[in-house]
Amino acid sequence: MEVKRIAVIGAGIMGGGIAHVAALGGYATCLLDLDAAILEKGLDTIRRNLQKGVERGKVTEDEMKAALGRLTHTLDLEEAASGADLVIEAVVEDMAAKLDLFGRLDRIAPGHAILASNTSALSVTEMGGATNRPDRVLGMHFFNPPHIMRLVEIVRGLESSEGSIRTAEEVSRGMGKETVVVNESPGFITSRVNALVGNEAFRMLQEGVASAEDIDTAVRLGLNHPMGPLEMADMVGLDTRLLILEHLQKTLGDLYRPTPIHLKHVAAGRLGRKTGRGVYTYDEQGKRK
Ligand code: NAI
Repeated sequence: MEVKRIAVIGAGIMGGGIAHVAALGGYATCLLDLDAAILEKGLDTIRRNLQKGVERGKVTEDEMKAALGRLTHTLDLEEAASGADLVIEAVVEDMAAKLDLFGRLDRIAPGHAILASNTSALSVTEMGGATNRPDRVLGMHFFNPPHIMRLVEIVRGLESSEGSIRTAEEVSRGMGKETVVVNESPGFITSRVNALVGNEAFRMLQEGVASAEDIDTAVRLGLNHPMGPLEMADMVGLDTRLLILEHLQKTLGDLYRPTPIHLKHVAAGRLGRKTGRGVYTYDEQGKRK
């Protein structure tokens, strides 16, 4: 199936970045959020990141202009999804919210449209069950930030058709990404590994094994990870990471039990880069202080 129009639902950390790569990949892209201020902030970030791409020679001025010309936005789900060939959902990591949204999308989107979730860990089979098109429901798991990270993990639900998987692979390639296909399992490949490493880092912080800076430096320089696990958790959002861990603890076991120190950060509203404070403190531009 040929995809021309993409709707991205949710304009937070991930949705904005997905809309960026979709528009740059040549797709007519509509970005939606419930919250007008978040939507505006998401659009600003897209413009800023495209401009940075031009300054770094990754994107030409003409490509930036064409991408921005293909990008529209709305607060109205009907307007976003009624003409879409592919809808990519990037709302909060909460199954009840996703099921409600998939039910509504199923009624609004054209019959041929594929409904994809950017969930980090949840069951896309269950999301398919909220629709009358489970063969056209799957996971397209992008990475943070989507305009930089090269992978899309394609998640095959129990009922996802091979045609839908192939379309998701083609669209991901059209966005300049590489893909892996994974049969649905909690946390897929990447979140299962990443949440475990991050949780272990929080456990060490809790035990006083080392400072946050030293844990991150050790993993960066000694294990050659591009980022330390605690800076990574701040980038993901400690609230989102907590929801992922709670789901993985329920489905895969106690290895994923969130640590008290992590819970305390979330209770205090220290959610990471997006709120200016998590394990570390950040300025307005999201730079570490
Ligand atoms: P976020 O909290 O930054 O953004 C979520 C956005 O969805 C918010 O702007 C909210 O207003 C909006 N929203 C909530 N319910 C909605 C609805 N019914 N309709 C329209 N908009 C709605 O969250 P983030 O981090 O972007 O995560 C979104 C999804 O992407 C989650 O499923 C998460 O697990 C996944 N993800 C997150 C990554 C990360 O590093 N933060 C990486 C890969 C996947």
